[in-house]
Amino acid sequence: MWHGRRQERILPHLINLAMRNRELVPYRERVLSAAEGRVLEIGIGSGFNLPFYSSHASEVLGLDPSPRLIDMARRAAGGSSVPVTFTEGSAEAIPLDDGSIDTVVTTWTLCSIPGAVQALEEMRRVLKPAGQLLFVEHGLSPETNVRKWQDRLTPIWKRIGGGCHLNRPIKSLIEIAGFSIDRIDTGYARGLKPMTFMFEGRARP
Ligand SMILES: C[S@@+](CC[C@H](N)C(=O)[O-])C[C@H]1O[C@@H](n2cnc3c(N)ncnc32)[C@H](O)[C@@H]1O
Repeated sequence: MWHGRRQERILPHLINLAMRNRELVPYRERVLSAAEGRVLEIGIGSGFNLPFYSSHASEVLGLDPSPRLIDMARRAAGGSSVPVTFTEGSAEAIPLDDGSIDTVVTTWTLCSIPGAVQALEEMRRVLKPAGQLLFVEHGLSPETNVRKWQDRLTPIWKRIGGGCHLNRPIKSLIEIAGFSIDRIDTGYARGLKPMTFMFEGRARP
């Protein structure tokens, strides 16, 4: 996905612009405030979550397949109070040992990771037994009419949006990967309904 010319040159900038959205800040604040210990952030992008980690996070390992996004995140990490390191790689094959992570964070990545269930299984593998998965994702709406539009728009949306699917059933994907969901809040953020149905919560391995 990251090897075409467009993907390398344009997509990281589009992602950076899209994820700068102020509407996402309250979600980031809530999700990141619960991160503790050794944290793995999946699809760290340009690092918009970094200012929101508290002192309960002892270190953050950022994983992303895009070298350009990692460069942007590295710059953002300059002002971070938590030590941050980066790995270029894919969530479907996380280069970490089993049971080595306290918190896995994923914010708006499951829509575009090609093998979302495989990636979630990997997140479960690297978590300690008492660890936690913190997530906020957009996905499949419960409203039939909105779902219809999500299904119609996804083929074109995927092509312009770096593989982003509008219609992934986020809660089911997390459960299929073997997590047990502790807490989940769902609802629309401000914006067009097909793009803004959010799933926010915590799951245990
Ligand atoms: C919509 S952006 C979200 C970025 C960031 N999490 C945020 O909240 O601003 C999706 C991110 O998922 C990353 N991504 C895409 N495929 C991935 C994969 N297979 N493994 C890990 N991350 C991936 C992209 O590079 C991008 O950084």
